[in-house]
Amino acid sequence: MEDKFILDACCGGRMMWVNKNHPNTIYIDNRRVEKGHIQKGYNPGHEVNPDIIMDFRKMSFPDKSFKLVVFDPPHLTSLTESSIMRKKFGGLNPETWQSDIKRGFNECWRVLENYGILLLKWNDIEIPYKKVLYHIPIKPLFMNITAGQKALKQKNRTYWFCFMKIPMFAKTNEGVEK
Ligand SMILES: C[S@@+](CC[C@H](N)C(=O)[O-])C[C@H]1O[C@@H](n2cnc3c(N)ncnc32)[C@H](O)[C@@H]1O
Repeated sequence: MEDKFILDACCGGRMMWVNKNHPNTIYIDNRRVEKGHIQKGYNPGHEVNPDIIMDFRKMSFPDKSFKLVVFDPPHLTSLTESSIMRKKFGGLNPETWQSDIKRGFNECWRVLENYGILLLKWNDIEIPYKKVLYHIPIKPLFMNITAGQKALKQKNRTYWFCFMKIPMFAKTNEGVEK
């Protein structure tokens, strides 16, 4: 484990990774699906092949195991079982998404070292990011501000939030805006 100091908490098809097999990273997801699972001829190379099948709401890693955690959970509640988006990115349970995201974030936080970085990715085409942050007990340091008006028109509404586990705040949640 010593050389595995980065965690991708829901890796999916690792589409965002430059090196999809980064040697210092553990990739987890709650499913495994083989190439060709989407639809004939559509994204034929897409697969979900985590190192470990694990639920981000209940991880089996010890506390403070990673220096960097990236959390890119599903962000849509309205997908049908057969939709291509669900096959690629998974879906949120409309009844429980708030607690699922909160539990996932709390687990990512728990397994993060002190002074470690947690990156949350959220596309708010359906659920505004402020609603998500409301359920997260820690305040981000900063976010990308490129998803402004122009981006909204272009439907490019992906936000990245950067959190640092500063021990004082991690213990007390001081500085958290509700
Ligand atoms: C938005 S996709 C991740 C996309 C990925 N970052 C990429 O670059 O391709 C979200 C992933 O979260 C996974 N997921 C959903 N619920 C999960 C859970 N409870 N635990 C672990 N993974 C989960 C889904 O299977 C899906 O692959």
